[in-house]
Amino acid sequence: MNINWFPGHMKKTRELLQKNLKLVDIVYELIDSRIPLSSRNPEIDKIVQNKPRIVIMNKSDLSNSNINKEWVEYFSKLGVNTVLVDAIKNKGVSQIISETNNLVKEKKEKLLSRGIKNKPIRAMIVGIPNVGKSTLINSLAGRKSAKTGDRPGVTKGKQWIKLKGNIELLDTPGILWPKFEEQEVALNLAFTGAIKDEIMDIETLALKLIEKLMVLASNSIEKRYDVMIEGKTSLQVMDDIGIRRGCILRKKEIDYARVANIVLDEFRDGTIGDISLETPKKI
Ligand code: G4P
Repeated sequence: MNINWFPGHMKKTRELLQKNLKLVDIVYELIDSRIPLSSRNPEIDKIVQNKPRIVIMNKSDLSNSNINKEWVEYFSKLGVNTVLVDAIKNKGVSQIISETNNLVKEKKEKLLSRGIKNKPIRAMIVGIPNVGKSTLINSLAGRKSAKTGDRPGVTKGKQWIKLKGNIELLDTPGILWPKFEEQEVALNLAFTGAIKDEIMDIETLALKLIEKLMVLASNSIEKRYDVMIEGKTSLQVMDDIGIRRGCILRKKEIDYARVANIVLDEFRDGTIGDISLETPKKI
């Protein structure tokens, strides 16, 4: 998906979302567990305000399981309900349902005291592009493919999908813009494939990823590519990966474009390892 997030576009999205939020009892804020901070929308707190919310750390199969736990603890200290999910393998999905029931208990009891029984709890998913919103809708709905909304905000004709536990889910997610202003965040989004538009050429992007992985996951890089990292620069490591993988052009030059594609693809699909790019600060 390709959305150019002009200020006018953001304003429209925000307004549409605020309208849709009025229809729901709870919001599922989807983030990427490899980059829990970088994958959040910068205005999400302002947009959601006091509405019950579950932060869903998706793609937990691709991030470090110990660091995932640290994030859940971190968010819980901030009073935020968090669920770790792998939307492809349906992991953590039933926990979303039980957390939802916990969070709307008060509202349900209030309704019950007014004699209103069995009113469904309404929920919607919001998140930046590529974080797994459509995959999660399919997983929650127990079906193979959802039509992906290609518009930010939400479509006009609303459809509600019945889930377990008397929950109804809006069938189209709210697509939010990412925080692309900071270089570090933009890089994290590009490494994970959330920003498809080139923020820089892929060779430089891969070099920056190698530099980061040399600090965060040196063993995984050494093991995957059979290279030594100690005392090397990121460019030397990139050269070594190129040599190991036979990415050589005529005149024995390294084919950096090919090396870049290999490293980026293998990071994004978890082949290099389960790697978290962000760790929570101590609170
Ligand atoms: P979106 O609606 O938020 O834009 O995201 P979507 O569901 O389309 O998912 C984006 C990509 O992320 C898809 O890969 C999808 O399979 C993958 N994905 C979603 N949830 C998970 C998860 O829990 N674990 C893993 N490993 N992957 C997940 P794709 O079809 O290959 O798309 P792309 O890589 O070409 O963008």
